[in-house]
Amino acid sequence: MGAGYRWFGRPLLRFQDSEKAHGRSLSLLRLFSSNPFTRPLLKLLYKPKRSLPVELFGRTYAHPFGLAAGMDKNAKALLGWEATGLAFVEIGGITMLEQTGNPKPRMFRAPHAKALVNRMGFNNNGSEKIQSTLEKHFSKHGRPGVPLWVNLGKSKITPLDEAPMDYATTMERLWSYGDVFVINVSSPNTPNLRELQGDEGLKSILVACHEVNNRCSSQAEHEKKPILVKVAPDMTSEQLIHIAQTAKANGADGIVVSNTTVERPESGHKRDQSVFSQQGGMSGQPLKERSTDMIRTVRKATGKDWPIIGVGGIASADDAWEKLAAGATLLQAYSGFVFEGPALTKSVVNGLHKRLQASPHTSIIDLIGSSSE
Ligand SMILES: Cc1cc2nc3c(=O)[nH]c(=O)nc-3n(C[C@H](O)[C@H](O)[C@H](O)COP(=O)(O)O)c2cc1C
Repeated sequence: MGAGYRWFGRPLLRFQDSEKAHGRSLSLLRLFSSNPFTRPLLKLLYKPKRSLPVELFGRTYAHPFGLAAGMDKNAKALLGWEATGLAFVEIGGITMLEQTGNPKPRMFRAPHAKALVNRMGFNNNGSEKIQSTLEKHFSKHGRPGVPLWVNLGKSKITPLDEAPMDYATTMERLWSYGDVFVINVSSPNTPNLRELQGDEGLKSILVACHEVNNRCSSQAEHEKKPILVKVAPDMTSEQLIHIAQTAKANGADGIVVSNTTVERPESGHKRDQSVFSQQGGMSGQPLKERSTDMIRTVRKATGKDWPIIGVGGIASADDAWEKLAAGATLLQAYSGFVFEGPALTKSVVNGLHKRLQASPHTSIIDLIGSSSE
């Protein structure tokens, strides 16, 4: 963790409303990264010097660590994420329609457990506005230097049986901008969304998104884009295996494990207890073991050639190592950045590099799945 963030940033955060602090950080990152004099400074401070290349979906990722969905829902600070050294960035959740989300406050920090509880409810500018944001960004700055992933959510007012149309419309509007699309059927904050993890829901969304993918790729004379499914941690192993196998059998190119949980850990701290009593999804350290176990379960059930993206409680190189060894090909974090600051990427990548050198593994690829075999 950066000492500056540990001594000044994190103590200051304690006194700020979580969502306001998040908004200010995002605006600062956008400001610093859009200025040609301060952008190199961001790179100097935060970008890892080591490279740990991973080939996936026809692209080379400089290392396995990227930004999880939810942090930059409206693609506000694309230059900033790249400057801080992330290997890929997932924007969204984006819904077909613009939404304000749930009433505030809706995001809470449990500082002792290093966890967050949120019930944002897919607040975002909607697919049309984000399409024009990306259009402007691409025409001014070109395609981002790192793969851009797009997290697709469902508009709250769209009934479940029309969900395929909602996901597919957003995908179509953003198809030419995104490199990878993630179907999010696992947020706990949109009523009944998780029912779409069931066979019929999942199949029909995948069919609709594949149809868009086929059409857009032949129109653009470009390869199809990978489509992944993101799952919730609140289910049995049997249910998880069933969902993963259904997703794979219906053409999903991989799986993101996992979204936030509705479960809560025990806590002896009053502040954390009051946060844990809030309704919503919990992320951060207490989710770590569960999401790593899920990676192992999916890997055993689907084999080593179906990519798993590991997310949940990564706040150090050791956390990242465990998820890679369990079978994740790429990793993402959200909460880790809230508690450790922007230097997290550098500490994860440099730490992985160091551990790799001291291990019998010849590369990150060789490490992937080594504890699940
Ligand atoms: C405030 C907040 C908003 C989120 N929004 C989304 C979202 O829109 N779509 C999604 O798939 N995941 C969303 N997530 C889940 C994260 O992408 C990630 O799966 C989860 O937080 C676990 O990772 P972490 O422990 O590193 O935070 C959100 C998480 C938080 C904390």
